[in-house]
Amino acid sequence: MDERVQELIEELKVAFASTYAFYLKAHYYHWNVEGPDFPQYHEFFGNLYQEVYGAIDKMAEHIRALDAYAPGSFSRLEELSAIKGDDNIINGLEMAAKLLEDNDKLTPMLISVMKKAESVDRYGTANFIQDRIEAHRIHSWMLRSTTKRVG
Ligand SMILES: [Fe+2]
Repeated sequence: MDERVQELIEELKVAFASTYAFYLKAHYYHWNVEGPDFPQYHEFFGNLYQEVYGAIDKMAEHIRALDAYAPGSFSRLEELSAIKGDDNIINGLEMAAKLLEDNDKLTPMLISVMKKAESVDRYGTANFIQDRIEAHRIHSWMLRSTTKRVG
């Protein structure tokens, strides 16, 4: 197989595992957030995890379309992911700050995958990833606005 396609596959797997970790973290925060702003944070993290979860299956299928296997075990996903899970119970604002930090890691990874996909004429994958970049830019805006100290 073309070496550049192999590189694309490796990067896409890392982006996939990191997206999965990001999804799970947002879902974990949705479940466990507490405090006077519970309804807002619970719903905010709920919308976030659902949006990201909606991309997981398609992302895995893009890996398959490149004739590679999609990772699916917790151990393999954890090994590949650039985003760490969380086991702590922190407040909603801290949760949003952690997700903002993770989201800012994810976006450049996706940009790199998109450029690699284009360079080997994988335009469908490039288009799909381009949409994910835009989705994560929206997430960045919302997380940034949520964590901003005003007044
Ligand atoms: Fe729920």
